[in-house]
Amino acid sequence: MRYVRTSSLKRLFSFRRQSFDGELPKPCDFNQEEVAATRKPTWKCFSFQEIFHATNGFNSENIVGRGGYASVYRGILENGEAIAVKMLTKANDDERKEKEFLTEIGTLGHVCHPNVTSLLGCCIENGLYIIFQFSSKGSVASILHDEKSPTMDWETRYKIAVGTAKGLYYLHKLCPRRIIHRDIKASNILLSEEYEPQISDFGLAKWLPSQWTHHSIVPIEGTFGHLAPEYFMHGVVDEKTDVFAFGVFCLELISGKKPVDNSYQSLHSWAKPLLRRGVIEEVVDPMLQGTFDSTQLHKLAFAAALCIRASSIWRPTMSETKTQVQYN
Ligand SMILES: Nc1ncnc2c1ncn2[C@@H]1O[C@H](COP(=O)(O)OP(=O)(O)O)[C@@H](O)[C@H]1O
Ligand SMILES: [Mg+2]
Repeated sequence: MRYVRTSSLKRLFSFRRQSFDGELPKPCDFNQEEVAATRKPTWKCFSFQEIFHATNGFNSENIVGRGGYASVYRGILENGEAIAVKMLTKANDDERKEKEFLTEIGTLGHVCHPNVTSLLGCCIENGLYIIFQFSSKGSVASILHDEKSPTMDWETRYKIAVGTAKGLYYLHKLCPRRIIHRDIKASNILLSEEYEPQISDFGLAKWLPSQWTHHSIVPIEGTFGHLAPEYFMHGVVDEKTDVFAFGVFCLELISGKKPVDNSYQSLHSWAKPLLRRGVIEEVVDPMLQGTFDSTQLHKLAFAAALCIRASSIWRPTMSETKTQVQYN
């Protein structure tokens, strides 16, 4: 087997056996929705034959996304289920990407929440493949930043912010292990048929042991414009890294702007003085033509302003952020 080292695989499958053993959060600590979110995930090994047929022989017409090291294909299983197959490409000369791929399987194998992409399984024949449930509306980036797509309405943007906050809260607090995603951004938030957001792309995700306050990481990876200052300056990673990126993501939803514009100005440094002066309407996407719920906008903008604070200790947790963005 060329791609996957035996030790990595053993670790992966032992993770599966261990999952949730003795480490479940106490149900009494959470509400019903949160307890439901801790259901045990299930996944399986697919044969190469199955995914080859599903993707029509990895037909280029089925490609729905392409990164530096992976191509994602749409497919249909024999039972009619729509899947996405992420195929590691160019693995021969980059072991780090292979590790990211295994990290993604290992992490997603433990999680199960409506706002986190569902891992259906993996395939280790003829390469390395991860199989997900297909998110039919693509990524938030592909809708929000595609000039050819109709303008995303306010209701959908708000729903995406609330769902993403719930998904991140789950990763940080409800999972048996603390998971830091490290690459929260619009192209990694996928959308179901009903525009329910699903956090995806766990290649950079880190598990933090509960006794550690943070983790120091080299090299710095992630996406410019979303990186928290303490992370890109000192490599410090903890939940607040994701909180910062979530704040930038909320600004993307509110403004329709990309995290970094053509003149390399970051969205958060552009929006910060406007939010501080309380002129929130100036941040709002003009394409919305004033059609937004003002209370929801103010809640979201306030949450974003707190999340993008330069000092991580002044940023809220995802539990506080989720409460802040939700509007009853
Ligand atoms: N489950 C899925 N359903 C639909 N499209 C997907 C799915 N997973 C990935 N994609 C598409 O492929 C793109 C790249 O996937 P991603 O996992 O982010 O890979 P990369 O590590 O290359 O960024 C996404 O932005 C999205 O457009
Ligand atoms: Mg991605």
